Amino acid sequence: MSVDVDKMNLPSRPEMIDFQGVSMVHYFTDNWANVQNFQARPDDILIATYPKAGTTWVSYILDLLYFGQTSPERQTSMPIYERVPFLELTIPSLDSGKDLADKLPTSPRLIKTHFPVQFVPQSFWEQNCRMIYVARNAKDNMVSYFHFERMNMVQPEPGDWNSYIHKFMEGKIVYGPWYDHVNGWWKKKQTYSKIHYMFYEDLTEDTGREIDKLCHFLGLSPTAEEKQRITDRVQFDNMKKDDMTNYSTLPVMDFKISPFMRKGKVGDWKNHFTVAQSEQFDEDYKKKMKDPTLQFRTEI
Ligand code: A3P
Repeated sequence: MSVDVDKMNLPSRPEMIDFQGVSMVHYFTDNWANVQNFQARPDDILIATYPKAGTTWVSYILDLLYFGQTSPERQTSMPIYERVPFLELTIPSLDSGKDLADKLPTSPRLIKTHFPVQFVPQSFWEQNCRMIYVARNAKDNMVSYFHFERMNMVQPEPGDWNSYIHKFMEGKIVYGPWYDHVNGWWKKKQTYSKIHYMFYEDLTEDTGREIDKLCHFLGLSPTAEEKQRITDRVQFDNMKKDDMTNYSTLPVMDFKISPFMRKGKVGDWKNHFTVAQSEQFDEDYKKKMKDPTLQFRTEI
């Protein structure tokens, strides 16, 4: 893919800002008032994740579950980021995520956000919407985010790997600390029953089982054949070669640096961390992740 960032009038890379105590870039805060006033409907489904935890994967599963049979042309003609708009994204010369969400003709509307739980627009709670949160272990999440920041012009430059580890541990990356994000949503689940909290590692281990759990949460009952068809379709290799799911149509990413569908593995962190880096990270992790009920797997 050739990147035509100039045409979109994007500055080279955005500055990091402190936004209500969370590190952000303006692309995700410029439309703040409109996003906060978003009018959710009771059947809207919010897919929430820390960036790079498997948002696209789960978005595609949901899109197929709801519309795979009734509107198959969606999957072949609309990129996933239009089928499942990214609520807070505002890039000059592209429709804002909020406008795309407003215009969605589907029922339910599938909407994506990377917001920490405290930033979610009020109406989603008021309308008692279903929410699906996907979490991924910190080390793989960080590796994926590092490569994403290298290739994505709407993110700040990640710098070298070693300094990136420190930025991640300090939460000085876009959307703030991973630790607060996964814990904040986990805690919210204790008081708001309509959150389905799932893990990237579980999805990798047994996609069919996780689709069953999702169906149970959503009250869907696809046939065994349909479930199998979806399970096959959402496998990494299939999504990687599908231009409607691999982000090759979005001209802010430079695939020559790194592809969006990069590896799709649990445990790739072992190819990045030195033993010393891993030990330092684990030490810090223990101090931040005190809730014994929230456990991640770094290998399967
Ligand atoms: P890697 O960079 O580790 O490959 P998000 O959609 O939240 O941006 O997350 C992107 C990450 O999810 C990338 O991780 C991507 O490869 C991975 N991913 C997307 N679809 C996947 C699939 N079907 N199976 C496994 N991993 C997938």
